[in-house]
Order: sequence, then structure tokens, then C-alpha cells
Amino acid sequence: MNLTFSALKIPTSGTLGITVGDKGLGTLGKKLNKMTGGALERAMKNSGFKAVSKSSLTVLEPSGTKLGKIILIGMGRSSAVKSHDLELLGGKFAAACEKDKTATVLFETPEGYALKSDEAAARFALGVLLRSYRFNKYKTVKKNAPVLNKVTVGVSNPTSVKKAYTPLKGLAAGMMTARDLVNEPANVLHPTEFAKRANNLTKLGVTVEVLTEAQMKRLGMGALLGVGQGSVQPSKMVVMQWKGAAKTKKPVAFVGKGVCFDTGGISIKPSAGMEDMRGDMGGAAAVTGLMEALARRKAKANVVGVIGLVENMPSGDAQRPGDIVTSMSGQTIEVLNTDAEGRLVLADALWYTQQRFKPQFMIDLATLTGAILVALGQEYAGLFTNNDKIAERLTQAGEAEDEKVWRMPLHEKFDKMIDTPNADMKNIGGRYAGSTTAAQFLQRFTNKVPWAHLDIAGTAMGSPKTPTSQSWASGYGVKLLNRFVQDFYEG
Ligand code: BES
Ligand code: MN
Ligand code: ZN
Repeated sequence: MNLTFSALKIPTSGTLGITVGDKGLGTLGKKLNKMTGGALERAMKNSGFKAVSKSSLTVLEPSGTKLGKIILIGMGRSSAVKSHDLELLGGKFAAACEKDKTATVLFETPEGYALKSDEAAARFALGVLLRSYRFNKYKTVKKNAPVLNKVTVGVSNPTSVKKAYTPLKGLAAGMMTARDLVNEPANVLHPTEFAKRANNLTKLGVTVEVLTEAQMKRLGMGALLGVGQGSVQPSKMVVMQWKGAAKTKKPVAFVGKGVCFDTGGISIKPSAGMEDMRGDMGGAAAVTGLMEALARRKAKANVVGVIGLVENMPSGDAQRPGDIVTSMSGQTIEVLNTDAEGRLVLADALWYTQQRFKPQFMIDLATLTGAILVALGQEYAGLFTNNDKIAERLTQAGEAEDEKVWRMPLHEKFDKMIDTPNADMKNIGGRYAGSTTAAQFLQRFTNKVPWAHLDIAGTAMGSPKTPTSQSWASGYGVKLLNRFVQDFYEG
């Protein structure tokens, strides 16, 4: 998508979008209305179009002009609009001209608008860009791509809007990387290929290291390695560092579950819907996409991203139910269900991260439990944390970006549910509170460092279509954590 900003000028042909505020058309809108002999205002009246409802209305072949169509974009209630609303509007606009090659939009910010004009226009443009994402690479005959590939956004101050848009463009690139990784099938995206893609971030100034199985073995990562041992694909751990602040500043750390495919292992999953488990690396994808976004917009923070990459397969070499493994922390784990593998991967990734980097805090992302879908559906990620400040900040960032989190409980009583007579712990709890017992398990590997766990099994994949995402993979987490870092840990 080629997206540029220019001065506000009515084009003579093609597809044109114009914004409509709750007080009606703007200066250029009024001019266009006059040119069309009042057709725009009549169309709004006859269709019951209301600018406050944040919808769009297409007027075809407007008389008095050579334009193919004019798309009226209802900007919502001026005083209540949020930046995410503007993204949705951008998405809706792009949808309305998806079949056109090029389009122009005249972005007039209504009077009394709650968002600064530059910010509003830049967020609108982000929405257009995100809408253009398609996972298309395997459609060789009939591409399901939008044809729209060139959009010009007319604004009163192109230079300053462009400045506001540049970091958002970096954010969008990170989100699309996360979507690509989650959408990619597991025959292509195995741990080695994932590590290779993460390694591409070196071009953006990210330091990337890839740990091999031999290195992980020396570090004692028996929990992670046990999960991967049944696969012909070697396990990897990728360590990414973005150094955007003073050396003395302690980093913040993000840790991702990267199960490139989760068959369940010997505790094999039913076949119906198993293909969804190609997305079981959604946590690792979000961490990778976040590192990309931070690097592209040159975030003023020191950030570490660690992802544990494995494939969970049944085979003659696979780990068995009842096996006892020793984690890097020294704690032993009785593996009673080989399908509860994500927590085993994260156990070693979390321990490694706090040992090596002594971060201010760690936040892990994982498509960890089906139970979180039962509890929260696809709209909220489950948030588990031992730190109220992090909880508040994540909640705030999530509301602002519409990547929402909902806090779930941790408690000693739940922690007891993973005790076992045979080892320090077992990898499953009882029938109840499945997402919480998984989180309690992770907490035992945090070494009391401030920590939060986001269970994104419901939000990362199989996502409902929205004006800004038509993709199976939403890229959930990148926008949330980019905002979280930007608002609370930079400068
Ligand atoms: N990757 C799954 C969780 C999952 C389920 C993600 C549905 C996305 C959609 C995870 O590894 C898993 O299998 N969890 C088990 C845990 C159980 C064995 C304790 C589950 O949720 O059933
Ligand atoms: Mn599993
Ligand atoms: Zn899994």
C-alpha cells in the first residue's frame, strides 16, 4: 500500500472520500456539495446517514463532477472520539473503495474534535494501511487481495501529519509481521524458519541471538527441550535486544510461547480443528512484531524479547505422560499431560530471561489455554499478574488501543493445585480454573521478579473480522505493548 499525504485539494476524477463531522460537511465538503447541486446533502438525508454513527455512505457518479464516487465518512461524536475509532474509520473507508486502484481522501477534522488533527489523520491512515493486509502468498490463481494500492490523504498540514504517521507505520509493519508469522503454516514456519525471520530484525538495529539445542542443554533447559524432543525439527530460543536508552537503564522484558505446531504430543489432540494449532506461536509472533515496531520507531527504551520455539509432536522419541523433567531453575516437573506444553517452554524462557537480564519486569504472551476462551471469549486476553501497577498500565494501554485485557486471579490456593508427590510440581491442575493453574505454574519460574502473563489463546487467532483486520491472525499484542512501552517506559 502506497500511502501519501498532500494538501487539501479536490481531485478531478477517481474515488474521493470526505469526512463529515457531527455539525455536517466541512469547508471542502460544502464546496463539493455545491458542485453537485446539493446531491451530497440530499443523499445523507435520504439514506438517514448520521455522521455520529461512524459509518460511511457512497454516492456514485456525482453530477457536476467527473468523480467516479464520493464516499462520505461519518466522523463520530466530536467530543467522544478515540484514536482507535479513527483507525476503524480508515478501515471502513478502505473497504468502501477496495476494488478501486487509487483513492483520495480529504481529511477535514471537524470543529471541537477530541483528537488533535494530526493525530486523527495519522490514525485514520493507519486504519487504511491495516485494512490492506492479506495473507496471500499461497494464492497463485485468484488472489484475494484488495486492488486498492494507492491512497492519498489530503490534510491541512501534510508535514506534521506525516511526522505523526511515521511511528504508526512502524507499528503497522510490526503488526503485519506478527500476522504473517501466525498465518504461516507449520510445514514452512518451523522453529528454524521462525528464528531466521526473527534474525531479520538485525537489519533494523536489533541484536538477535539464536540458541541451539546444545546450548540450551548446557543451560539445563530440560522443560523446553522435553517438549521439542519428539519432533525432527530442532528447538530454538531467540533472544532479541533493542537498546534505545542509556546502557545503565534496566531493560523491560517480553517473553513469548512459540509452539510452531501443537499436536498435543502423546496426549494427542482430537483431529477436528487441529490445524488451528499452527497459530500456537502467537505469543512469540507478538514479541517479534513488538521488537520490530519498537526498532522501526526507534523507541527510547531498553527492551528484551525472548521466544521459545518448539514443535510438539508424538513420535518414538516424544516425551511421555509421567516423565519427570528438570527445568533450568532446578525445579522438577512431572509431565502428566504432554498437551500442557506451553508452560514447559515458558518455564525455561522466563527463568533464563530474569537470570540473564535482571529486567524491571517480565511480561509473557502465550496461546496457553483453551479455558481462557471459555472465560473471556475472543475480545479480551486474560491478564495474570503479581503487580498492581503493571495490571493498571496494561489495562489502560489495552483500552486505548482496543487490544483489551481482563485481570484474572492468582492465589496460593490455586498454586497448591499443581503440587504432586512425585516432583516439585505437575504440569496440569485439576478440572477447574485451567487458565489460572497454568498461570500459577508460570509464576513459579519468575523468581519473584514483577511479572504479568497474557493468555492470548482467544485473541491471537481465529479472530473475528473487523474493519482493520480481515485476517485469521489478528496480530494481537503488538499494538497493546507498543503503547504500554511508549506511555510508561520511555524518556
Ligand atoms: N495451545 C493449547 C491452548 C489453545 C487451545 C490455544 C485453543 C488456542 C486455542 C495448549 O497448549 C493446550 O493444549 N492447553 C490445554 C491444557 C490442558 C491439557 C491442561 C488445553 O487448554 O486444553
Ligand atoms: Mn497443548
Ligand atoms: Zn499449545
